[in-house]
Amino acid sequence: MGGGIAAYKSCELLRRFQASGHDVTVIPTKSSLEFIGSSTWEALSGKPVTTEVFDSVHEVPHVKLGQEADLFVIAPATANLIAKLAHGLADDLLTNSVLMAQCPILVVPAMHTEMWLNPATQANVQTLRDRGIRVVDPDVGRLTGPDSGPGRLPEPQAIEIAAQVLVDGYLPDLDLHGKRVLVTGGGTRESIDPVRDIGNRSSGKQAWAIASAASVYGAKTTVIAANVELPSPVGSTVINVKSALEMADAVDEQLGEADVLVMCAAVADFRPKAPADVKIKKTSDDFVPAPIELERNPDILAAVGARPEADRPLLVGFAAETVTDEAQLIEYGLGKLTKKGADFLVANPVGKDQTFGEDSNSGLVLGPEGIVDRVEKTSKAGLANALFAACREKLSS
Ligand SMILES: Cc1cc2nc3c(=O)[nH]c(=O)nc-3n(C[C@H](O)[C@H](O)[C@H](O)COP(=O)(O)O)c2cc1C
Repeated sequence: MGGGIAAYKSCELLRRFQASGHDVTVIPTKSSLEFIGSSTWEALSGKPVTTEVFDSVHEVPHVKLGQEADLFVIAPATANLIAKLAHGLADDLLTNSVLMAQCPILVVPAMHTEMWLNPATQANVQTLRDRGIRVVDPDVGRLTGPDSGPGRLPEPQAIEIAAQVLVDGYLPDLDLHGKRVLVTGGGTRESIDPVRDIGNRSSGKQAWAIASAASVYGAKTTVIAANVELPSPVGSTVINVKSALEMADAVDEQLGEADVLVMCAAVADFRPKAPADVKIKKTSDDFVPAPIELERNPDILAAVGARPEADRPLLVGFAAETVTDEAQLIEYGLGKLTKKGADFLVANPVGKDQTFGEDSNSGLVLGPEGIVDRVEKTSKAGLANALFAACREKLSS
């Protein structure tokens, strides 16, 4: 980690990696210890921490660290550190280890907007990207002091999901620079009255993993989120909606720009026909409200799928099914894919404690000819990678 004001967020990132079972070594720069001291890192990681190549020389630590790591996550990455990496400088343990690294590298920049937009920084970022290092764009938001703009370090949870993309089924050669990916996620809520809704339990985690993967691979990513309580996925613009109608409008507005639309949201098929203007109250002890009459919501996936292929993005649907039998999952999935006109469809089993809200997922990636990929239980980032692997050929044509 580099010496940026956001270094404190890396303590939580470390905890998150540990909680998901990873062995984490912290390599700070000298400047970063001005923000978070080595005692904190040693206590949290349970390992000695140094900035020097000349400590424990008998172990040649930079060689060992570089050779043994499965992933380097550099967060926060300062403008200075990015410049050093771009030029191959090696004057401390971190820069030496990164030069040794044989594994994927995720760089998460954080700095003031002016430093981020400076042509020198942008050129250095481009150099790293050209070499296959994954550099995500910083968040837009509050910076040091009262300033605000692009340059904020994404939240630790978002960095963790991005890191998973580089581990679970990572696609080292995939390059989505120049592509626009639109993802819908979460679960719509349909009003009964001003304080009550009909909803579902979709958390948005799968959509977040897809958006994170798209950003890691370089796409310009927009998520249309229905009631998702997660920090923004790395490098993504988030448009918040509540109901299926709002989601349909947002998809319509964003569609023209997109090369791929992944419809991952759980969209209500029906909505109350006449939501009450005021809260429905128990007006007497034996009051029972009238049954709620429902009407159909627009079918967003089918509406996009009905467009001529040249007039729509590559279309990926999701089908959440409460089945236990794979044959049934395939039958339902292929039926939905054909009916909606999607190019690919991810069919996944849902149910009690399965998929909704969980960090893992499994499923079948289906194309018009049948199974493209059978994804055994993995992180939601792993499923996102399987999805982009399936789309890859059509996306590059
Ligand atoms: C209070 C303070 C906050 C800073 N925050 C950042 C930052 O967020 N991003 C950045 O690139 N540099 C930041 N800097 C400047 C770096 O600390 C400085 O460029 C340093 O040389 C970076 O060293 P390193 O890349 O080896 O960690 C900050 C400096 C100070 C004093």
